[in-house]
Amino acid sequence: MSRYSRITGTGSFLPPQRVTNADLATQLAARGVETSDQWIVERTGIRARHFAAPDVTSSDLGVEAARRALEAAGRQPGEIDLIIVATSTPDMIFPSAACILQNKLGIAGCPAFDVQAVCSGFVYALTVADAMIRTGSASKALVIGAEVFSRILDFTDRTTCVLFGDGAGAVVLEASDTPGILASDLHADGKHVGILCVPGTVSGGKVMGDPLLKMDGQAVFRLAVGVLEEAARATLKKAGKTEADIDWLIPHQANIRIMQGTAKKLKMSLDKLVVTVHEHGNTSAASIPLALDEAVRSGKIKKGDTLMLEGVGGGFTWGAVLLDF
Ligand code: ACO
Repeated sequence: MSRYSRITGTGSFLPPQRVTNADLATQLAARGVETSDQWIVERTGIRARHFAAPDVTSSDLGVEAARRALEAAGRQPGEIDLIIVATSTPDMIFPSAACILQNKLGIAGCPAFDVQAVCSGFVYALTVADAMIRTGSASKALVIGAEVFSRILDFTDRTTCVLFGDGAGAVVLEASDTPGILASDLHADGKHVGILCVPGTVSGGKVMGDPLLKMDGQAVFRLAVGVLEEAARATLKKAGKTEADIDWLIPHQANIRIMQGTAKKLKMSLDKLVVTVHEHGNTSAASIPLALDEAVRSGKIKKGDTLMLEGVGGGFTWGAVLLDF
């Protein structure tokens, strides 16, 4: 009998502080940086984002999302035998956010590690967990995307600081006799490092370079629309499916124009697009599991629906996962 993996529970968590575009515009104006609700909504679809308090880390957000996913799956932390956290804003340089989160869940022993693929992190992490489950290395995994991007934003750069937010989403992925995950397709092209990066590091006790996010928005936009279409088509082909089989498209929530552009290229109705970017902004690796959980809890996504998850981000990285929920 074949062994597959299937999502059995979803969860998410947003830090309580909700910052509207108007709030942000007021805060930025105090620094002499000009922006407006109208510009942000028209160019991105974002209306608000959540920012974590200064002492709140990615593992703090992630563990709340994980607890909710465990509850939805009817599982106890002690039953989990694999933890993967997708994050580009870990609590520390090391150990991983996954190890810290494991301890916060009150468990020990199972493998726990982070995956760093920026906004593609969740589809990368889900694909790794699926492979480990199918090969028998794990049977009940927690896969989490958690970010505090507010820590790496340059609040004097209006072209980037209005775009991002903090949050976490999680799924419990379990071994199953039936799929579950139908196919996935991951890619990277490191020649594009410079168009989206945080070009700093720590050396000899000092921050070297610039530890704040830099982005060439137009270059990212052009690349994103092309690779999201390619990844979706490649994944459908691997699974022997077509666009018509997709019930819900859950792309990385960066910009409503990129998301709608992808749906149109796939000739999908915009009604099948799950959208949370207006309320969350871009939460990087957390954006897809956050959107998934919201759509599940609101009753949009139902058991048996076919979902296409798609990530794209710094690296450049991109990929897609097709699954029966
Ligand atoms: N408020 C007001 N005006 C602004 C702002 C702002 N926040 N930001 C830029 N502008 C101005 C610019 O200065 C420019 O003014 P000018 O014409 O006088 O020079 C004008 O608005 C237009 O700027 P563009 O950069 O051309 O705006 P564009 O329509 O390309 O939108 C955006 C910019 C939203 C960043 C878009 O390019 C985009 O969404 N790119 C993709 C970003 C993305 O998806 N990133 C996430 C990838 S995931 C990851 O790995 C983190």
